[in-house]
Amino acid sequence: MDSTPAAWRAADDFLADTLVGHDPALEAALDAQRAAGMPEIEVAPVAGKLLNLLVRISGATRVLEIGTLGGYSTIWMARGVGEQGRVVTIEAEAAHAAVARASIDAAGVGDRVDIRIGRGADVLPTLVGWFDLVFIDADKESNTLYLDWAARLGHPGTVVVVDNIGRDGEIVNDASPDPKVVGTRDGLRMLGEDPRFDATALQTVGIKGWDGFAIAVVV
Ligand code: DHB
Ligand code: MG
Repeated sequence: MDSTPAAWRAADDFLADTLVGHDPALEAALDAQRAAGMPEIEVAPVAGKLLNLLVRISGATRVLEIGTLGGYSTIWMARGVGEQGRVVTIEAEAAHAAVARASIDAAGVGDRVDIRIGRGADVLPTLVGWFDLVFIDADKESNTLYLDWAARLGHPGTVVVVDNIGRDGEIVNDASPDPKVVGTRDGLRMLGEDPRFDATALQTVGIKGWDGFAIAVVV
């Protein structure tokens, strides 16, 4: 078998077709995001389903997302929290938030989703209450700040997921000048060293190339 990005994509498509299926509301959210000229960097379908499963496996009813983009991952998690659950999602770009709002409402989960417009550093200190699952998928430069807030707004047992921890293998490059790589490495080191977390990470290949997720529990 070849191990190339094209083969990873074909296998990812097979897994998505076989296990995730095709969903008009989610595909409409991606169409709206593309039509608005937003970056096509949402999580892969298999990863959206993973987020949905993590919400359900952990029994999370209060979810915090940092980085809404077009609402694709938001819809996946909002479906997982159930009718009484809530997702608070933070988006720095008001135009992105407007696209996400429309897609989330069209998906039928609008009453569960509260979009807060602003930078994470400004919005996070305004949040009250606790969260059972936190998904960090915003500017990588702020990952340590976001992890600190995840611990502060979490409780023992809160699940923390960080997207984009592989970055084409650049995480081993301690001389990388890329601030996204530096932020990602700093976040991973924090997950390893900070006693508030117990964590691991999985590299992924697929339609988004070579990347990965960190998954942690607040202890
Ligand atoms: C980037 C950000 C993401 O959240 C992602 O999933 C892929 C790439 C980026 O900023 O490069
Ligand atoms: Mg991401």
